[in-house]
Amino acid sequence: MSERLLSRAFDILERNDMGGYTVPTHGLYPFQWNWDSCLVALGQARIDLDRAFTEIETLFAHQWEDGMVPHIVFHRESDDYFPGPAIWDTKRTPPTSGLTQPPVAAFVVRRLFERAPDDAQVIDRTLRLLPRLFAWHRWFFECRDPQGTGLAAIIHPWETGRDNSVDWDEALARIEKGAITPFTRRDTSLADPSHRPTREQYEAYLWLIQLFKEHRWDHRKLHDASPLAIVDPGFNAILLRSISDLADLAERLGEHRICEESRAQLAAGIKAMEGLWSEEKGRYLCFDRIIEQPIESDSIAGLLAIFAPLPRARASSIADRIRELGDRCDYLIPSHDPTSGAFESSRYWRGPVWLIVNYMIRNGLIRIEEHDLARRIERDSLRLVEKSGFGEYYDPIDGNPCGGSDFTWTAAMTIELLMKNDN
Ligand code: DGY
Repeated sequence: MSERLLSRAFDILERNDMGGYTVPTHGLYPFQWNWDSCLVALGQARIDLDRAFTEIETLFAHQWEDGMVPHIVFHRESDDYFPGPAIWDTKRTPPTSGLTQPPVAAFVVRRLFERAPDDAQVIDRTLRLLPRLFAWHRWFFECRDPQGTGLAAIIHPWETGRDNSVDWDEALARIEKGAITPFTRRDTSLADPSHRPTREQYEAYLWLIQLFKEHRWDHRKLHDASPLAIVDPGFNAILLRSISDLADLAERLGEHRICEESRAQLAAGIKAMEGLWSEEKGRYLCFDRIIEQPIESDSIAGLLAIFAPLPRARASSIADRIRELGDRCDYLIPSHDPTSGAFESSRYWRGPVWLIVNYMIRNGLIRIEEHDLARRIERDSLRLVEKSGFGEYYDPIDGNPCGGSDFTWTAAMTIELLMKNDN
């Protein structure tokens, strides 16, 4: 089975390769997406390390002067996607979106480097990426943590990648929206609308974009101007894990300032994560900075936190929560607890399983030597691909594929799980 799956996965990587960047899937997502590209580079590196570095370098070639790495780079024109460059109006060439996405890049670059740590070109390419990765991390603390809490807030659901998670429902409902320019979605004609966010959610997404555009995408102002500011433990875990990997890489390559500053960011962030811990739920919760309250929803955010180098007791409690979820569905890990009233088995981030999340959580479980649970996640992930192909995400109850098909990051994660080296 693995040989066949592997070769199908590599085919998808090749088919979705546009040259210097890879589309998540043709049609639904016809440009370069930030965290898609980074995670896809892990799969590419298994056969072509040079191509994997190029994927990351192309993304960082479009880093903003303030340090932000945008969530979409519109390398070419396409009518397939909404909202396109005109809606974002970030005045960049080529156009980019004005938001960011989970900063998984440094975690990935460390793994690319480790494939050939003595190769002069690999060292050189890694060294050239280090200051860029560091500038992005610093941007989060400068622009998304103005009070210096140690953790970054997201100001738009798209920044988390978990667009329509139940986590944002109440915060989005509180926003007083003004008139929104009439729009036509493209996603609902390219994928099953019942797998996608609702019209009402899209109105909120677009309202926020309209607002940020009025502030000319000045990220030094947007955190305080935004009616949405949420500290997401999953997002911050990715940031902290990347900071930790960047610190290690910088130490190894003699970049002492980057190493020291990264270690300080990491220590402050890990300490601040304690403020998101819920003893009652046994996992981390999102925190709404606008009303200064935790968000009690039963999403995957508080479990994805295990990707960060957290204290062992916290990580073990997360493992217990995942085991409980394992009794409630056939395929781990649902993005929302199936016993919650808000669970929807096939609607985007309100229930479905995502292989990228499985991969990151499995990685955290291996760190604390929860090998049986890590193996169950690995088995469930591969069963899904075997049963339903390389979907964008999957129904955790019946294993059916959802969203787009021939999805690049699902293929890359399959490659990673089949060719694993578990670091
Ligand atoms: C979309 O268009 O569905 C994306 O998630 C936004 O990045």
